[in-house]
Amino acid sequence: MEIIITPDYEQMSKTSARIIAREIKKKHDLVLGLATGDTPVETYQELVKIHKEEGLDFSKVTTFNLDEYIGLAPLHKNSYNLFMWENLFKHINANSENVYVPQGNTDDPEEFSQWYEEQIKKAGGIDLQVLGIGGDGHIAFNEPGSSFASRTRVKALYKQTIEDNARFFEKVEDVPRFAITMGIGTILEARKILLIANGENKADVCAQFIEGPVSSQITASALQLHSYVTVVLDEPAASKLTRTEYYNWVRDNKHLVQKKLGR
Ligand code: PGA
Repeated sequence: MEIIITPDYEQMSKTSARIIAREIKKKHDLVLGLATGDTPVETYQELVKIHKEEGLDFSKVTTFNLDEYIGLAPLHKNSYNLFMWENLFKHINANSENVYVPQGNTDDPEEFSQWYEEQIKKAGGIDLQVLGIGGDGHIAFNEPGSSFASRTRVKALYKQTIEDNARFFEKVEDVPRFAITMGIGTILEARKILLIANGENKADVCAQFIEGPVSSQITASALQLHSYVTVVLDEPAASKLTRTEYYNWVRDNKHLVQKKLGR
């Protein structure tokens, strides 16, 4: 894993947007996995800016979102589908035919999940998957104990996730108890992964998934099994890492071996 520590949320967002933009410039029909939540909001704003100011072209990009609450219609105010349109898709030249977000109000979530997996396969697999991390260490809605072999499926949300996400709903009881989520196996098949995290409340889980053991109790630790992961953190989220000096040295000196790293 490459760990890039940035001073603050703004720099975390700028750095991650540049990484995504670089991949789109390299491959115009990139298959891009996207995440929701507070963390990527400014990364998406930066991408919109790069689109408007530098003409970054999304017309051939295919996107797959990680997850969606079960029971919420695509235009529900708390749906991740609406979040994506409001925060990114409507501000860029996204082709709606190439935009995939799990459908929360499908009649048959299991069948839908299989269909979603097939669409990812048909698109040629995900080139770059963007991830946040939950307070319980989840990636997508792969809650503690999720199998590292899991595929897109229905997952019951963990208590901490429900509490963390209650801020978007009127009351905690309104938070859906289930979600459709890409599995850890699905995520690990992405060719490249970019995980972003900010804030002191993410410091413990960041230290655990980067420097702790691989464990299904912190599902982000599955990323240790992937060969191309970039983690962009702000300083508060990185504050409990122990090898910070090493990560910073690599960040500042990687140009010496950049070709070898292929980054
Ligand atoms: P957040 O959520 O960006 O709102 O902190 C991240 C997540 O739950 O994956």
